[in-house]
Amino acid sequence: MMPRERLRIAVQKSGRLSEPCFDLLDRCGLRFRRSRDGLFCYGDGEPVDLLLVRDDDIPGLIAQGVCDLGIVGRNVLAENAAARQTALQCLRSLAFGACRLVIAVPQDMAYAGGGSLARLRIATSYPNLLRDWLSANGVDAEIVTLAGSVEIAPRLGTADAICDLVQSGATLAANQLREVDRVLDSEAVLVGSATLPADGRRDAIELLLRRIDGVVRVRGSRLLLLQAARASVEAIVAVLPGAPSATVLQMDGQPGQVMLQALCADELGWRQLEAIQRAGARELFVLPVERALA
Ligand code: PRP
Ligand code: ZN
Repeated sequence: MMPRERLRIAVQKSGRLSEPCFDLLDRCGLRFRRSRDGLFCYGDGEPVDLLLVRDDDIPGLIAQGVCDLGIVGRNVLAENAAARQTALQCLRSLAFGACRLVIAVPQDMAYAGGGSLARLRIATSYPNLLRDWLSANGVDAEIVTLAGSVEIAPRLGTADAICDLVQSGATLAANQLREVDRVLDSEAVLVGSATLPADGRRDAIELLLRRIDGVVRVRGSRLLLLQAARASVEAIVAVLPGAPSATVLQMDGQPGQVMLQALCADELGWRQLEAIQRAGARELFVLPVERALA
């Protein structure tokens, strides 16, 4: 394969992870132009391009050296490891795309633990994770491997139960299935091959990791600014959600008055603000936090 100078990241073309992936990369200051066929996104500025593919293909593309990094659900990474296919490493958890791999059965089927699945057919796109879960639970069942549309298998009569990803639960509900056991908790992760490129792409990887850290660290957090009498500071800090550390600054020319700032890992809704105000604060401001650099 031709050596590449630009870093190439594989991301899901369309699906649960696509939009939050683009949002993360955008927050990392990466801008792209999409190719006409929609397969590539070429980076403007930084030497980073994207390849838009099916999420299940991402581990293979990294193993072949077609891409250097990829963003997948931990479920894809775990299935790959359970299949003992390629040596991938998880570089970062990305704090989005939370979901779970579960066992689900038809609404009216009785379930009293894994034993209820004995000798049944279970449809899944995660045969290796399911195989490991069944053997860990001492259940002898038949695994029916499907590439997609797993949730309709029970209605079609091609399986009795399924093992599939659930995020909101809407897909299960729409197919009259109910979740009965949990196989794996998942979220989006940044993965790379076990040995990362040692050439110029290494700089782009380090830049990306630094920026991802700066985005993920403050994701959803708010900077709270307020004024108060110094005597009220203790009471105010006691009602700050998540017990953040607060910085207290003396206000010029106003003895006994301070300005307080705190980074809160929370939305800070009206009720929380009102409680802080009752504790003695005034002039409260809640600011979004975009990025951080240590
Ligand atoms: C998963 C799963 C369901 C859906 C569940 O698909 O297979 O179709 O998400 O989400 P819900 O509980 O919010 O309804 P995924 O996004 O991984 O796409 P893929 O199966 O095409 O890889
Ligand atoms: Zn998939």
